[in-house]
Amino acid sequence: MTARLMALALGVLVSGNGSNLQAILDAIAQGSLNAEVRLVISNRADAYALTRARDAGVETLVLPHKSFASREEFDRALLNELTRAGVQWVVLAGFMRVLTPEFIRAYRGRILNIHPALLPSFPGTHAIRQALEHGVKVTGCTVHFVDEGVDSGKIIAQRAVPILAGDDEASLAARLHAAEHELYLEVLHDLAAGHIGAETGA
Ligand code: GRF
Repeated sequence: MTARLMALALGVLVSGNGSNLQAILDAIAQGSLNAEVRLVISNRADAYALTRARDAGVETLVLPHKSFASREEFDRALLNELTRAGVQWVVLAGFMRVLTPEFIRAYRGRILNIHPALLPSFPGTHAIRQALEHGVKVTGCTVHFVDEGVDSGKIIAQRAVPILAGDDEASLAARLHAAEHELYLEVLHDLAAGHIGAETGA
Protein backbone atom coordinates (compact mmCIF):
# COMPACT_ATOMS: atom_id res chain seq x y z
CA MET A 1 0.00 0.00 0.00
CA THR A 2 1.36 3.43 -0.89
CA ALA A 3 1.02 6.19 1.63
CA ARG A 4 -0.99 9.13 0.31
CA LEU A 5 1.32 12.06 -0.15
CA MET A 6 0.43 15.41 1.39
CA ALA A 7 -0.65 18.15 -1.02
CA LEU A 8 2.18 20.53 -1.83
CA ALA A 9 1.71 23.81 0.04
CA LEU A 10 2.71 26.40 -2.55
CA GLY A 11 3.32 30.12 -2.33
CA VAL A 12 3.49 31.79 -5.74
CA LEU A 13 5.36 35.06 -6.30
CA VAL A 14 4.30 37.09 -9.33
CA SER A 15 4.76 40.50 -10.95
CA GLY A 16 2.73 40.32 -14.13
CA ASN A 17 0.36 38.37 -16.32
CA GLY A 18 0.35 35.12 -14.36
CA SER A 19 -0.21 32.61 -17.15
CA ASN A 20 2.04 30.10 -15.35
CA LEU A 21 0.06 30.68 -12.16
CA GLN A 22 -3.13 30.05 -14.14
CA ALA A 23 -1.78 26.73 -15.43
CA ILE A 24 -1.06 25.69 -11.83
CA LEU A 25 -4.48 26.83 -10.58
CA ASP A 26 -6.21 25.00 -13.45
CA ALA A 27 -4.34 21.76 -12.75
CA ILE A 28 -5.29 21.95 -9.07
CA ALA A 29 -8.94 22.69 -9.92
CA GLN A 30 -9.01 19.73 -12.32
CA GLY A 31 -7.62 17.50 -9.60
CA SER A 32 -4.55 16.61 -11.66
CA LEU A 33 -2.04 18.31 -9.32
CA ASN A 34 -1.95 17.38 -5.65
CA ALA A 35 -1.17 20.89 -4.40
CA GLU A 36 -2.71 23.92 -2.80
CA VAL A 37 -1.76 27.52 -3.52
CA ARG A 38 -1.75 28.98 -0.03
CA LEU A 39 -0.86 32.52 -1.04
CA VAL A 40 -0.03 34.61 -4.11
CA ILE A 41 2.14 37.66 -3.51
CA SER A 42 2.80 40.38 -6.07
CA ASN A 43 5.16 43.32 -5.81
CA ARG A 44 2.90 45.16 -8.26
CA ALA A 45 -0.72 46.06 -7.52
CA ASP A 46 -1.62 45.99 -11.23
CA ALA A 47 -0.43 42.43 -11.89
CA TYR A 48 -3.16 40.50 -13.70
CA ALA A 49 -1.95 37.42 -11.84
CA LEU A 50 -3.74 38.81 -8.76
CA THR A 51 -7.09 38.70 -10.58
CA ARG A 52 -6.42 35.11 -11.62
CA ALA A 53 -5.67 34.14 -8.02
CA ARG A 54 -8.72 35.93 -6.62
CA ASP A 55 -10.94 34.30 -9.24
CA ALA A 56 -9.66 30.94 -8.01
CA GLY A 57 -10.41 31.88 -4.40
CA VAL A 58 -6.74 32.06 -3.44
CA GLU A 59 -5.48 34.56 -0.86
CA THR A 60 -3.52 37.41 -2.43
CA LEU A 61 -1.26 40.06 -1.10
CA VAL A 62 0.43 43.08 -2.68
CA LEU A 63 3.79 44.06 -1.24
CA PRO A 64 5.02 47.03 -3.30
CA HIS A 65 8.80 46.73 -3.15
CA LYS A 66 9.19 50.51 -3.33
CA SER A 67 7.49 50.96 0.03
CA PHE A 68 10.30 49.08 1.78
CA ALA A 69 13.52 50.77 2.82
CA SER A 70 15.70 47.98 1.48
CA ARG A 71 15.68 44.74 -0.46
CA GLU A 72 16.28 42.93 2.85
CA GLU A 73 13.21 44.45 4.47
CA PHE A 74 11.06 43.61 1.47
CA ASP A 75 12.24 40.01 1.53
CA ARG A 76 11.67 39.76 5.29
CA ALA A 77 8.05 40.82 4.73
CA LEU A 78 7.76 38.18 1.99
CA LEU A 79 9.18 35.56 4.32
CA ASN A 80 6.85 36.47 7.17
CA GLU A 81 3.80 36.15 4.94
CA LEU A 82 4.90 32.89 3.34
CA THR A 83 5.67 31.23 6.65
CA ARG A 84 2.43 32.55 8.19
CA ALA A 85 0.53 30.92 5.32
CA GLY A 86 2.32 27.62 5.87
CA VAL A 87 4.04 27.70 2.48
CA GLN A 88 6.52 24.86 1.96
CA TRP A 89 7.51 25.51 -1.66
CA VAL A 90 8.01 28.93 -3.21
CA VAL A 91 7.15 29.07 -6.90
CA LEU A 92 8.41 32.07 -8.86
CA ALA A 93 6.11 32.73 -11.80
CA GLY A 94 7.22 35.89 -13.55
CA PHE A 95 8.44 37.49 -10.32
CA MET A 96 10.75 40.32 -11.38
CA ARG A 97 12.79 40.75 -8.18
CA VAL A 98 16.06 39.11 -7.21
CA LEU A 99 15.77 37.42 -3.82
CA THR A 100 18.26 38.15 -1.03
CA PRO A 101 20.60 35.50 0.40
CA GLU A 102 18.58 35.64 3.65
CA PHE A 103 15.42 34.66 1.78
CA ILE A 104 17.22 31.92 -0.15
CA ARG A 105 18.59 30.51 3.13
CA ALA A 106 15.15 30.41 4.71
CA TYR A 107 13.66 28.44 1.81
CA ARG A 108 16.92 26.84 0.68
CA GLY A 109 16.31 24.24 -2.00
CA ARG A 110 12.54 24.84 -1.96
CA ILE A 111 12.35 27.76 -4.39
CA LEU A 112 11.60 27.09 -8.05
CA ASN A 113 11.78 29.41 -11.03
CA ILE A 114 10.87 29.14 -14.69
CA HIS A 115 12.93 30.93 -17.29
CA PRO A 116 12.18 31.39 -21.01
CA ALA A 117 15.51 30.07 -22.35
CA LEU A 118 17.66 26.98 -22.24
CA LEU A 119 19.89 28.00 -19.33
CA PRO A 120 22.75 28.65 -18.99
CA SER A 121 22.09 30.50 -22.26
CA PHE A 122 20.36 33.85 -22.00
CA PRO A 123 19.85 34.40 -18.26
CA GLY A 124 18.22 37.66 -17.11
CA THR A 125 15.22 39.65 -18.22
CA HIS A 126 15.55 39.72 -22.02
CA ALA A 127 16.02 36.04 -22.79
CA ILE A 128 13.49 35.83 -25.63
CA ARG A 129 14.78 38.90 -27.47
CA GLN A 130 18.39 37.84 -27.01
CA ALA A 131 17.74 34.38 -28.41
CA LEU A 132 16.21 35.98 -31.53
CA GLU A 133 19.00 38.53 -31.87
CA HIS A 134 21.61 35.83 -31.49
CA GLY A 135 20.03 33.82 -34.28
CA VAL A 136 19.85 30.55 -32.35
CA LYS A 137 17.67 27.96 -34.05
CA VAL A 138 16.48 26.30 -30.87
CA THR A 139 15.61 27.94 -27.58
CA GLY A 140 13.26 26.75 -24.86
CA CYS A 141 12.45 26.99 -21.19
CA THR A 142 14.04 25.84 -17.97
CA VAL A 143 12.72 25.06 -14.50
CA HIS A 144 15.46 25.39 -11.91
CA PHE A 145 16.08 25.70 -8.20
CA VAL A 146 16.80 29.28 -7.16
CA ASP A 147 20.14 30.15 -5.61
CA GLU A 148 21.81 33.49 -4.87
CA GLY A 149 22.60 34.17 -8.53
CA VAL A 150 20.41 35.25 -11.45
CA ASP A 151 18.91 32.16 -13.13
CA SER A 152 21.92 30.17 -11.97
CA GLY A 153 20.50 27.45 -9.71
CA LYS A 154 20.49 23.73 -10.41
CA ILE A 155 18.48 22.81 -13.49
CA ILE A 156 15.50 20.50 -12.90
CA ALA A 157 13.93 20.24 -16.35
CA GLN A 158 14.12 21.80 -19.80
CA ARG A 159 11.96 21.85 -22.92
CA ALA A 160 13.26 22.82 -26.36
CA VAL A 161 11.29 25.17 -28.60
CA PRO A 162 12.44 25.73 -32.19
CA ILE A 163 12.76 29.26 -33.56
CA LEU A 164 10.91 29.41 -36.87
CA ALA A 165 11.58 31.61 -39.91
CA GLY A 166 9.59 34.79 -39.45
CA ASP A 167 9.34 34.49 -35.68
CA ASP A 168 9.20 37.76 -33.78
CA GLU A 169 9.25 38.29 -30.05
CA ALA A 170 5.47 37.91 -29.74
CA SER A 171 5.15 34.71 -31.77
CA LEU A 172 8.12 33.08 -30.07
CA ALA A 173 6.93 34.17 -26.61
CA ALA A 174 3.53 32.61 -27.27
CA ARG A 175 5.08 29.21 -28.11
CA LEU A 176 7.50 29.48 -25.21
CA HIS A 177 4.72 30.23 -22.76
CA ALA A 178 2.76 27.19 -23.89
CA ALA A 179 5.87 25.06 -23.33
CA GLU A 180 6.47 26.70 -19.93
CA HIS A 181 3.01 25.81 -18.68
CA GLU A 182 3.53 22.15 -19.56
CA LEU A 183 7.04 22.02 -18.14
CA TYR A 184 6.18 23.73 -14.83
CA LEU A 185 3.28 21.31 -14.36
CA GLU A 186 5.49 18.32 -15.13
CA VAL A 187 7.96 19.42 -12.46
CA LEU A 188 5.25 20.15 -9.91
CA HIS A 189 3.70 16.72 -10.56
CA ASP A 190 7.10 15.14 -9.91
CA LEU A 191 7.47 17.17 -6.72
CA ALA A 192 4.00 16.19 -5.52
CA ALA A 193 4.78 12.55 -6.27
CA GLY A 194 7.99 12.78 -4.27
CA HIS A 195 10.19 12.21 -7.34
CA ILE A 196 12.04 15.47 -6.74
CA GLY A 197 13.21 16.47 -3.28
CA ALA A 198 14.37 19.75 -1.87
CA GLU A 199 17.77 20.67 -3.27
CA THR A 200 20.11 20.33 -0.32
CA GLY A 201 23.07 21.91 -2.04
CA ALA A 202 25.11 18.86 -1.04
C1 GRF B 1 7.62 33.66 -18.17
O1 GRF B 1 8.11 33.76 -19.47
C2 GRF B 1 8.69 33.13 -17.25
O2 GRF B 1 9.56 32.27 -17.88
C3 GRF B 1 9.42 34.38 -16.83
O3 GRF B 1 8.40 35.35 -16.71
C4 GRF B 1 7.32 35.02 -17.57
C5 GRF B 1 6.08 35.00 -16.73
O4 GRF B 1 4.91 34.82 -17.49
N1 GRF B 1 10.17 34.15 -15.63
P1 GRF B 1 3.52 34.69 -16.75
O5 GRF B 1 3.38 35.89 -15.82
O6 GRF B 1 3.50 33.40 -15.99
O7 GRF B 1 2.49 34.74 -17.85
